[in-house]
Amino acid sequence: MKRTGMPLSIRTKRLKLRKPRLSDAPVIFKSYACDPRVTKYVTFKPHKSLKETKAFVRRSISEYKLSRYTYAVESRQTGELMGNFAVRIDRFKAEIGYVLAAKYWGKGYATEAAGAVIAQLFKNRGIFRVSAVCDTANRASARVLTKAGMRFEGKLKRWIIHPNRSKHPCDCFCYSITR
Ligand SMILES: CC(C)(COP(=O)(O)OP(=O)(O)OC[C@H]1O[C@@H](n2cnc3c(N)ncnc32)[C@H](O)[C@@H]1OP(=O)(O)O)[C@@H](O)C(=O)NCCC(=O)NCCS
Repeated sequence: MKRTGMPLSIRTKRLKLRKPRLSDAPVIFKSYACDPRVTKYVTFKPHKSLKETKAFVRRSISEYKLSRYTYAVESRQTGELMGNFAVRIDRFKAEIGYVLAAKYWGKGYATEAAGAVIAQLFKNRGIFRVSAVCDTANRASARVLTKAGMRFEGKLKRWIIHPNRSKHPCDCFCYSITR
């Protein structure tokens, strides 16, 4: 598969986005993958065992540097693992998504990471569009996307299943930034 040119790690003022390691799995499991507050508006159910989290990390590692980067988000100050930030690239466009452990919410971290990832993506002259979708009820995520400079594009009806909310597909907001 073609490489997409994202760096192995990205630094911001407070964060380092880096390649995940299998040794991250116990922290990921305990700090956010098992937390129903974190998984409310995402496509996976809370992990019930470390085995599930290990499988997720293995997948993230094997996809890395191909079309999809799931960066581990780390505090530069303490080295703590705080969440993850996914970037999926499809030729001339990219999609982003993110989760943070609840104890890090409300401090601007997701916005900081999103801003840096968008800037990095647009360094590639072949990328023309970065987009993200979020559940229409996910106010925090919608706010992050706006603060990161994205524009509201519209509502995607019945777009995706968020299994912790409903077994039926939910409506999502779509945001993008283009050049
Ligand atoms: C979405 C998420 C990553 C945001 O991370 P974060 O670091 O707290 O985000 P930021 O601090 O950069 O910004 C959050 C903004 O949302 C606002 N916000 C938070 N909860 C809100 C709510 N219920 N209603 C309205 N605004 C809300 C905050 O006030 C802040 O805006 P402000 O700076 O104008 O005050 C985090 O809440 C999370 O991990 N949620 C669970 C996983 C998830 O839903 N991921 C997104 C899937 S699309």
